[in-house]
Amino acid sequence: METDNWKIVYENWLPEEQAHREALCTLGNGYFAARGAAEESSADGVHYPGTYLAGGYNRLRSEVAGRTIENEDLVNWPNWLSLNFRHPNENWFGLAEVTIIYFRKELDLKNGTLHRHLRFRDQNGRETSLKSTRLVSMAQPHIAALQWELTPENWSGIIEICSALDGTVKNKGVARYQALNDQHLEITATGNDETQHYIYLEARTNQSEISMAQVARTRFYSEFPAQSPLYALEQRANYVAHAFQIPCENQKTVRIEKVVVLYTSRDFAISEPLLEARRAVEHAPDFSELLAAHSLAWQHLWHRCDLVVATNDRTQQILRLHIFHLLQTVSLHTADLDVGIPARGWHGEAYRGHIFWDELFIFSFLNLRLPELARELLMYRYRRLPEARFAARGAGYRGAMFPWQSGSNGREESQVIHLNPKSGNWLPDDTYLQRHINAAVAYNVWHYFQTTGNSEFLNLYGAEMIFEIALFWASLASWSEEKQRFEIKGVVGPDEYHTRYPDAETPGLNNNAYTNFMAVWVLDVALQLSEIIGEKRQAELFEKLKISAAELERWEQISRQMFIPFINHTKQVISQFEGYEALQELDIRKYRETEGKMLRLDRILEKEGLDINRYKASKQADVLMLFYLFSTEKLLDIFTRLGYDFKPEHIFANIIYYEKRTTHGSTLSKIVYSWVLARSNRKRCWGDFQTALLSDIEDIQGGTTSEGIHLGAMAGSVDLVQRCFTGLVMSNHELLLNPVLPDKIYYLELRLKYLGNWLSVKLTQQKLVVAADPDWKNEICLNFRGKMHTLRAGDVQEIDL
Ligand code: BGC
Repeated sequence: METDNWKIVYENWLPEEQAHREALCTLGNGYFAARGAAEESSADGVHYPGTYLAGGYNRLRSEVAGRTIENEDLVNWPNWLSLNFRHPNENWFGLAEVTIIYFRKELDLKNGTLHRHLRFRDQNGRETSLKSTRLVSMAQPHIAALQWELTPENWSGIIEICSALDGTVKNKGVARYQALNDQHLEITATGNDETQHYIYLEARTNQSEISMAQVARTRFYSEFPAQSPLYALEQRANYVAHAFQIPCENQKTVRIEKVVVLYTSRDFAISEPLLEARRAVEHAPDFSELLAAHSLAWQHLWHRCDLVVATNDRTQQILRLHIFHLLQTVSLHTADLDVGIPARGWHGEAYRGHIFWDELFIFSFLNLRLPELARELLMYRYRRLPEARFAARGAGYRGAMFPWQSGSNGREESQVIHLNPKSGNWLPDDTYLQRHINAAVAYNVWHYFQTTGNSEFLNLYGAEMIFEIALFWASLASWSEEKQRFEIKGVVGPDEYHTRYPDAETPGLNNNAYTNFMAVWVLDVALQLSEIIGEKRQAELFEKLKISAAELERWEQISRQMFIPFINHTKQVISQFEGYEALQELDIRKYRETEGKMLRLDRILEKEGLDINRYKASKQADVLMLFYLFSTEKLLDIFTRLGYDFKPEHIFANIIYYEKRTTHGSTLSKIVYSWVLARSNRKRCWGDFQTALLSDIEDIQGGTTSEGIHLGAMAGSVDLVQRCFTGLVMSNHELLLNPVLPDKIYYLELRLKYLGNWLSVKLTQQKLVVAADPDWKNEICLNFRGKMHTLRAGDVQEIDL
């Protein structure tokens, strides 16, 4: 594989890797995305062309394991990529049918394009070269385009080309979901336009009634004067194509352009989707012009979002791949769409495009570069406050209870049963009890404010969310006479292996330390909000939300008297939840040797007839999340407030304790471990960072990437570089920098937007240079290891390390 830092290149055709590459070669623009499947392919077990609309969900019921369940899926829309050729009366071209002489697939991160260059020999000895280029326009979000350059290498003759819009697709991207209903679409119209030479197809989801219109225009350009191609319309059920006949001449290239326009009923400023799509295709320029505008849009994005990391390995290349996929999932085109940040991108069907707490790992990157977008993505949560209120009330609580998995309207979308592919058993899924998602929502709102200083957002929307979440925590917490403290019962922490006590009839655990601590943090923030939003606005919100003085008193008490469990024999190690200590030890090493490093131990044990709930074995970082999210100062502050004697030197004991017992069955886990080890064990920190980097490009969980990338790990790895290695903390209008640059990085450069101003940070092992853009309006307080520096427009601060 080449090491160009702006490219991901595959130099051989490996059918068994196709699904993985398709996910990694997905092109998207924050409005829609299409997997990197070959144009000539269809879902056949090797290829899986998938087109996904940001927020394009649909609900279906299925009968499975003797019950009816409903899931909200990310819909796979009609395949617009479809383009193929054949010699008359022969089979259509396919990689399995020919001898491949040359193969190269290249994802160009800089320009946002996907390329394939092939040379092959068919069964009749004809050799052909085919170069394809594809884009999903970052300049015009409704447009995608592809180009084929086909060159006969030793033949001349007529070929037939088929350019289609294929609505026969279903949701078939995840093998585990096979038993579930997968027919989401009804095709409501197909046809062509005689004068403008385009075909169209309109599809509608059968429950959410989202309509999508696709229009495709196919044009030919030849190096030799050929008569214009004969064409015919092919229409069958749920499918429409233009079939062309074009004469080819040896060594002369024929260029084929397919420009596709896509509109949906969710769009703004439209009459109806098909009408808009038709209009837009009539105005659409040719491929080269589309490509130029698209590259320019990416150039602008990279200017804001790139970071330079000099090492002797692939770190830079993979970080760019991660930024690339983040920007393809959410871009400025996402801004008006009312969508959240999906855990698996719009790159596949795993986790059904749902929005989880993974946003917690993603927002920092956006806050520091595209704050306008971050604000819009927070609005996804704000708009779903009513649903979160229903959920809280339904469960007997006050305030708002956001769902663990969220989709269209913010209803709880977690699956109620899931399939263990190892055993073939359908099992109850109690992970929805992860109420800590609520703390993540509040944390994201608060950090958006800390980074951007946008108090207006806090005033109008953010504070309401924080207050509602505070109300929820306060009503969930109960007083324990025995402990003389508040506690939270019946929840699940981030570690999804533990959802109930061994042999317990009902799910839920008591006093998950992370959840309890986060609840305290939220209440503490809520109690301080009036300083930012002002007494008047606070009074308005308190009136609206019925928050009384007694309620505030309760918040205050809980935030001082919440119970945090500790492992008994050492008061230094925080217990993941109450009773964790009584669980049995498990020889995780034994499983690692046979099953690989990143274990899904829950599935392995269940197959063996054992219950993971019995053991001290975690899927992912849980207690350690605290050291990931908070500075040591903040942690100590809260522990002291709670009356616990927690010391900075205890942190390492916690890391050691849980590291032994964690299988990293979630890609988020290594991000957290790398982060928390940055200051105590640089070597292990680097190792974990490298593992996190490889999550998707090497598919380290063995087969999960093909179903969708892991956006939390992708953005989290970039955030490790931007905030952890630089020691960047934003707090109360102060920018703290305290770098711990790993030895392997000899140079790091990034641009950040803080409180509305762009600044550049350059870091080597010896020096830190922070420069303020010349067009700054305000000054910024830079705190370097306790020493204050004031930065004004155009200032450059050089600091020896
Ligand atoms: C992890 C969760 C995560 C989800 C979506 C699960 O495997 O355990 O923490 O939110 O994946 O990425």
